[in-house]
Amino acid sequence: MNLKGKKILLGITGSIASYKSVELTRRLIDLGAEVTIVMTKAAQSFITPLTFETVSGKRVFTDINQEPLSHIALLESADLFMIAPATANIIGKMASGVADDLMSTLLVASPVPVLIVPAMNSNMYENPVVQRNRDILEERGIEIMEPETGKLACGYEGTGRFPDLKIIIDKVTEMIQKGEDLKGENILVTAGPTREPLDPLRFFSNRSSGKMGYSLAKVARRRGAEVTLISGPTALKIPFGINRIDVERAEEMMKECLPAFEKSTIGIMSAAVSDWSTDMSPHKIKKDGKERVLRLRENPDILQEMGRRKGDRILVGFAAETENVIENGKKKLIEKNLDMVVVNDLREEGAGFEVDTNKVTVIDRKGNITEFPLISKIEVANRIIDKVLELKRMASS
Ligand code: CTP
Repeated sequence: MNLKGKKILLGITGSIASYKSVELTRRLIDLGAEVTIVMTKAAQSFITPLTFETVSGKRVFTDINQEPLSHIALLESADLFMIAPATANIIGKMASGVADDLMSTLLVASPVPVLIVPAMNSNMYENPVVQRNRDILEERGIEIMEPETGKLACGYEGTGRFPDLKIIIDKVTEMIQKGEDLKGENILVTAGPTREPLDPLRFFSNRSSGKMGYSLAKVARRRGAEVTLISGPTALKIPFGINRIDVERAEEMMKECLPAFEKSTIGIMSAAVSDWSTDMSPHKIKKDGKERVLRLRENPDILQEMGRRKGDRILVGFAAETENVIENGKKKLIEKNLDMVVVNDLREEGAGFEVDTNKVTVIDRKGNITEFPLISKIEVANRIIDKVLELKRMASS
């Protein structure tokens, strides 16, 4: 881990965990980072600016009027702005755009990636208003770490603890090192299920929630790519900064995908596309006491068609399997002319549809097989993108 020459702006807000940020500052400096501290008024009730000045060897900023335009200058050279610890108050201010002191003004003015590390009493953290504010920030593409569960300074047991310093430092390093490694790439992602109508009221579909594809879109955008997300119906909101095209049927998805892929450099197709459709009845189908037969027609395979038109683009497919997982994945990789296939074993606990975690195995064109542990879909997305970049590097060397 090396943060040599990296500039971190570290905001301290009024939580008892602020004393842990003294050690955090020291460790970041040990890794080569230059750390500039900003403190709110409340933070100074817990710990003095002098402590941070001594550890960082730099002037600590506490007031917007301390230096003209400091809210702009401080951010100009920063690689990362992190708030650690972040209180319910600063999270709420950020969510509603309040800028009434140096810290909140910096957050509104920040052009650099922001990392929030909450620490508070568990009742506060779990309060729906705090959770709502947290979601608002996440929707805007801000990284928020999940607090740890355990004994809190106030004597409570629950979720709200400042995470272990090593975990925070790993996150900081990941954010700084990844930076914008997808800058210049134009990525097409598909997500969610498709819906095939039977009549004006009814359709058939599948259990895909879209979470894996949306995680990929968010991560790609965070890492600097231009992202087009072609999405079947999901309950998910449009991620910040992403061009989302909504579709329902497989056929519509195909119609949107082909021209979008032409403009892309990378395609990652995680949608659970229905393999079949049927002729839609223009009227509601009425029951009549008789058995009914549904005649299904095979839908076009979007991915296969893209494989044919791939050129020198990178194309990644998904494979949801319940048996012979690796063999079936390899077969799809070859048949659809992919560079990489991400195989989901639907028998695994915590993997696949409707959950926030996933356990996947990645197979690439060269036959390399990498199994990832059970991790969050955001982390899976990061690792898939790491692999895509590896393939790109290999292709150009
Ligand atoms: N896919 C597609 N168009 C289809 C069906 C699937 O583009 N009509 C894509 C999916 O987006 C996914 C990959 O193909 O990236 C594999 O999907 P999956 O449902 O696992 O496999 P199928 O190819 O449909 O094969 P089978 O159902 O026989 O396992």
